[in-house]
Amino acid sequence: MAKINFGGVEEEVVTREEFPLSKAQEVLNGETVAVLGYGVQGPGQALNLKDNGINVIVGQRKGSKTWDKAVADGWVPGETLFELEEACEKGTVLQFLLSDAGQIALWPTVKKHLTPGKALYFSHGFGVTYKEKTGIVPPEDVDVILVAPKGSGTSLRRLFVEGKGLNSSFAIHQDATGNARQKAIALGIGVGSGYLFETDFYKEVSSDLTGERGTLMGAIQGLFRAQYEVLRENGHSPSEAFNETVEEATQSLYPLIAENGMDWMYANCSTTAQRGALDWMGPFYEATKPVFAQLYKSVIDGVEAQKSIDSNSQPDYREKLEAELKELEESEMWQAGKAVRKLRPENN
Ligand SMILES: NC(=O)c1ccc[n+]([C@@H]2O[C@H](COP(=O)([O-])OP(=O)(O)OC[C@H]3O[C@@H](n4cnc5c(N)ncnc54)[C@H](OP(=O)(O)O)[C@@H]3O)[C@@H](O)[C@H]2O)c1
Repeated sequence: MAKINFGGVEEEVVTREEFPLSKAQEVLNGETVAVLGYGVQGPGQALNLKDNGINVIVGQRKGSKTWDKAVADGWVPGETLFELEEACEKGTVLQFLLSDAGQIALWPTVKKHLTPGKALYFSHGFGVTYKEKTGIVPPEDVDVILVAPKGSGTSLRRLFVEGKGLNSSFAIHQDATGNARQKAIALGIGVGSGYLFETDFYKEVSSDLTGERGTLMGAIQGLFRAQYEVLRENGHSPSEAFNETVEEATQSLYPLIAENGMDWMYANCSTTAQRGALDWMGPFYEATKPVFAQLYKSVIDGVEAQKSIDSNSQPDYREKLEAELKELEESEMWQAGKAVRKLRPENN
């Protein structure tokens, strides 16, 4: 572990310097990592592990488009690609990467194959934390570990191919073999993480549910929409409203913030922008902090988990979600976005 100072607070984290890939390969030597589910995280983690020299197989239900996607990615049926139950049987580390609702449905099958000494791996603390709702209670004689990449499986793979990595959290819920921690870190390095920071299953799920409902997705769409509408209601064209709300943010400012931080961004814009941004960050903070507090409470009270289980376990959950997503897609702002993206020089 390396001691790093994060803005005055010291934390111990794992980097590839103290835990190089060679050490991860050594820890996982003799293991068969079965990646169960080939949705979004499945492909990223499975392909990165394979390219990092770890023995990986994929478990996926047959007869679905996802199976074909796994075949197209080079997994060979009967050799490295199996039906879920067969993969559970063959794997010594079971990476439970089905959707959170799918995990509830498959749990009885997975549990049956969790023989002593195996490891059960999650990328989200959801199933274990909300065990009363999910029924996921692992047997005591297996390791239960977590590695949660902080980003989409698509970026995990893309960054790995570019020689970069997403940071991940890791956690140990149960250490039956005495080797759970080493295994979790080795898998974290194997899936292509940047640095790894330690958490527990409860903290992982509460921060993750807050983040995606907050500044990563929910809040950002709310903010974009509010500003876009105000501009449109005041006679600005869709092109002007979209460029001033989204395109400038994603094309120019966010990459600079990623590189240098928001403090740098404030210090390196026009003095007119500086004056205005310094004046208006306060009112936006005041307006949104109570909403974030309300959101966090809804997460820790279990309301968000219950809602997601209830809606995503219905047989027609996809159709219902798709109807809501279609509304978003058809909104003027995102239709304007489509037009703006088409006009980007690289698309012309
Ligand atoms: N999305 C991300 O990038 C991300 C980031 C960090 C952590 N995570 C965590 O990683 C885990 C996997 O997330 P994900 O987004 O990759 O999931 P996902 O794309 O929603 O997972 C879909 C996978 O689950 C399978 N599945 C769903 N219901 C099933 C059922 N009833 N029986 C059998 N298979 C079923 C799907 O098979 P079919 O296609 O055949 O339905 C597919 O393989 C979750 O715990 C999530 O919280 C995800």
